[in-house]
Amino acid sequence: MCQDNSAGAAFDPAADIPDLTGRVALITGANSCGIGFEITKRLAAAGARVYLGCRHAGRARKAMADIRESLKRESMDPRKLGEKRLAPQMEFLHLDLITVESVRETVEDFLRKETRLDILICNAVTLSKQYELNEDGVETTMAVNYIGHFALTTLLQPLLLHTALLPGADVRIVMMTSALHTKVPKDIKLHTQADLNATKAQFLSCKDSRMACYRRYFVSKLALVLFTRSLQRRLDAHELPNPIIVTCVHPGMVSSENMKSQVPAPFRPLLPLFSITPPRGAYTPLFAATAPVVRTRRREYAGQYLVPFGKVGKVAKAADGEDGEALFRISEEIVRSSTRGCGRES
Ligand SMILES: NC(=O)c1ccc[n+]([C@@H]2O[C@H](COP(=O)([O-])OP(=O)(O)OC[C@H]3O[C@@H](n4cnc5c(N)ncnc54)[C@H](OP(=O)(O)O)[C@@H]3O)[C@@H](O)[C@H]2O)c1
Repeated sequence: MCQDNSAGAAFDPAADIPDLTGRVALITGANSCGIGFEITKRLAAAGARVYLGCRHAGRARKAMADIRESLKRESMDPRKLGEKRLAPQMEFLHLDLITVESVRETVEDFLRKETRLDILICNAVTLSKQYELNEDGVETTMAVNYIGHFALTTLLQPLLLHTALLPGADVRIVMMTSALHTKVPKDIKLHTQADLNATKAQFLSCKDSRMACYRRYFVSKLALVLFTRSLQRRLDAHELPNPIIVTCVHPGMVSSENMKSQVPAPFRPLLPLFSITPPRGAYTPLFAATAPVVRTRRREYAGQYLVPFGKVGKVAKAADGEDGEALFRISEEIVRSSTRGCGRES
């Protein structure tokens, strides 16, 4: 149970997510035993049609079968009996965030399938051990974690705006970041493609290749924090009657499949001592994506960085004074100019 008195602490995802029947959600990277999987489960249990944006159909289908099984077990608990849980609606959507072109294909596919999108959760993550550039000329950790999600969100923006005009709309976008973004030094700028590719900063070109890999991850998560702010500002300019709410979330330290793979095998049994379970890790993103209080107290939450469990956190010093506009512009340029095999450095 939560130890604080914030609005987030009072929220129970298993009971307090409003009825999402008729709503559509898309979540990236939901196919492993991690936070995305748990978010999918709770959104589907609440009645939303949830798309799992994943690279591998087989892994996504296995995740959907596991979710159905788990919800069936829950429904046998008389305290949690709910009709929707017995028929959760989930769909596989092929998505590989590695290039803008593949994200574009996913968006086209999605637009053929759906006429609304109520909840978008940018959850997928990679930690590329090697320093490599993708076909768009972007370093691969930055490409998957940030540029892929930037492309997905901005290409889906017309649909999100359309949904926000529908009766009773409550459109939310959640970027999964990390508290580790605060490790990025204040002097790191994300204004050019060279900045994104980590070719200049000393912080990123450190000799220890493992540490360099983590640092690229930290910077990609900082990019998501800056994107959250600039996207919120741009969406607010539309002056929608039911404004779209964008947040970024640190879920806590979570013993997901991805996290386990980063920890040397002998230390894995110790993980429960210093991490929370994936269902607990899903708590803050679910709060951001569905809690009614986030809508009623929109000014408190919109464009903010949330930490466990549903509290507004303090962003990195590197984000102080940065409005994210330069990053938004270079990201737009990368998306615009992306064609297969046509990388570019500035
Ligand atoms: N776990 C933590 O302690 C922690 C802490 C802070 C922040 N977070 C953030 O929370 C989010 C979820 O983390 P998690 O640990 O629970 O991870 P996870 O969901 O267990 O694993 C990451 C997912 O991303 C997918 N993915 C990787 N590369 C992809 C690509 N190119 N295109 C599409 N999907 C791709 C993976 O799919 P494949 O099966 O295809 O590889 C996998 O399903 C991440 O954004 C992470 O940064 C986690």
